[in-house]
Amino acid sequence: MSRDIKVALVTGGNRGIGYELVKLLALKGFKVILASRDPEKGHKAIQQLRKSNLDVSFVSIDVDNRESIRQASATVNERYGRLDVLINNAGVYLDENRKLVAMDPSILEKTMATNFFGVYHVIRSFIPLMEKQGYGRIINVSSEYGAMSEMSHQGVGAYKLSKLALNALTQLLAAENHGDIKINAADPGWVSSDMGGPSAPRTPKQAAESILWLATIGPEGPNGGFFRDEKRIEW
Ligand SMILES: NC(=O)c1ccc[n+]([C@@H]2O[C@H](COP(=O)([O-])OP(=O)(O)OC[C@H]3O[C@@H](n4cnc5c(N)ncnc54)[C@H](OP(=O)(O)O)[C@@H]3O)[C@@H](O)[C@H]2O)c1
Repeated sequence: MSRDIKVALVTGGNRGIGYELVKLLALKGFKVILASRDPEKGHKAIQQLRKSNLDVSFVSIDVDNRESIRQASATVNERYGRLDVLINNAGVYLDENRKLVAMDPSILEKTMATNFFGVYHVIRSFIPLMEKQGYGRIINVSSEYGAMSEMSHQGVGAYKLSKLALNALTQLLAAENHGDIKINAADPGWVSSDMGGPSAPRTPKQAAESILWLATIGPEGPNGGFFRDEKRIEW
């Protein structure tokens, strides 16, 4: 593989916003790794992309499973020896409008496991590949529901807490890192994926387009920011 070709990985790449992110990155000339927890769904998505002549590879990642993350980072290291772009897209929305104290606590735990700890463990496993080459762009797909101002309105508490923590993680990791590794969070808007439902005004493709600029920012680009449509939003 040419040294000029950049390698990108998207978690939850088999459907919704993740699938469109994979497609757009491949169209832009990245060597893209579609990560999916279900190999069958992942390979099906890859077959679909092949119909558009896009050559995407697969790795299995269940972000709730640390061993699967560790194995995936070892595989990417063996296959490519580098990772330039990491998009933490996989996520769940499990609580709708249930009250935090009334819901089964496992809903909060499961939401935090995927949307927060999952991202933490994926970054922890893959960032050494970026540090090795002194370059990396990490995008955490967050939500406006994770903004501090949302915490004074009841409802969707598990999801809001998971994205609030994800936003804070983004800032903390950005403050910790050195060199040309940028880590930012992005809100894709309300999107007509399985998660967002059919009434949402944005398509997954539009959502992916609104996020992807963060994958190609230069050394002067933002680090530790939270964006929607290239505009900074309040944490
Ligand atoms: N849709 C919206 O309106 C909206 C708004 C703001 C933010 N977001 C964020 O955007 C991201 C993508 O959402 P989406 O709308 O595309 O949702 P989606 O259509 O429900 O897709 C979610 C993706 O995440 C994967 N996933 C869930 N749990 C996982 C796990 N433990 N390990 C690995 N993959 C896992 C799913 O895999 P399976 O197919 O195997 O289930 C699927 O590929 C999420 O982080 C979400 O919070 C969405």
